[in-house]
Amino acid sequence: MSYACPSCGAPLEERRGALVCGSCGEYPDRGGFYDFLGDDAPQNDALVSLFDSVARIYETPVWYPTGMRIATAGRASVDELVEGVARRVDESGADKLLDVATGTGLFARRLARDTTVYGVDASAEMLRRAVRKMRRSGVVLELARGDAGALPYADDSFDAVTCAGALHLLPQPADALDEMGRVVRTDGRLVITTLVDEGVFAPRPVRAASRLYGMRVFDDLELDTMLNTAGFERVEAETRRNSSLVTLVARRR
Ligand SMILES: C[S@@+](CC[C@H](N)C(=O)[O-])C[C@H]1O[C@@H](n2cnc3c(N)ncnc32)[C@H](O)[C@@H]1O
Ligand SMILES: [Zn+2]
Repeated sequence: MSYACPSCGAPLEERRGALVCGSCGEYPDRGGFYDFLGDDAPQNDALVSLFDSVARIYETPVWYPTGMRIATAGRASVDELVEGVARRVDESGADKLLDVATGTGLFARRLARDTTVYGVDASAEMLRRAVRKMRRSGVVLELARGDAGALPYADDSFDAVTCAGALHLLPQPADALDEMGRVVRTDGRLVITTLVDEGVFAPRPVRAASRLYGMRVFDDLELDTMLNTAGFERVEAETRRNSSLVTLVARRR
């Protein structure tokens, strides 16, 4: 089993629709995803609540596709972005993958065509949508509610980890990258899309506004330092940019 207790790291036992840690208690199945958070709020509780409330419209034109156009100054569509991540995962030959901050499973559903996909997110409502969409589209995702900073999986469980549109939203992105480095095997791949200090987010007022909403805008050096500390090295010399959005591939050393 790939799951492990997010509090103490112990292996878990499957029992009566729950995963059980001998020391910390039960993590129940909430109808399609195991809940590792329960009433424990993630550090960025307010932001996760925002995703709870937009879950219903998240994949409709009013939300994600519009956000994508803004972040890329009209240069990339959602499909292009999803396919870009899928191609990079494909090239890595991964059989088993974890999608961190999977949301409604937009990327995960595409990735699950060729790979066994686990998805984790802190928002129960986003996950409920993910379950519904997964069932409608006939793909299988192994979903869990958990915090990116304390992933509920054992060390070296995955061949690849993806994280789309979320690293810049996390209060402790370095901790999340450390966790991704822990759960991916040596020589495994990391594929992320995130915001860098260019394009429409470069002007100071916009940067200030994004910070106000709890969004970070990284610079390259900062990203590289965090990746290195987490045990990764970049493998794409030329990271493809769509304005302020970057798709980045790294290898676990
Ligand atoms: C912009 S959405 C991206 C969802 C998906 N990756 C996509 O591209 O469609 C950001 C997601 O990050 C999740 N998230 C925010 N903070 C988190 C945390 N601390 N741990 C796990 N997920 C988190 C939110 O619930 C939300 O679903
Ligand atoms: Zn435990």
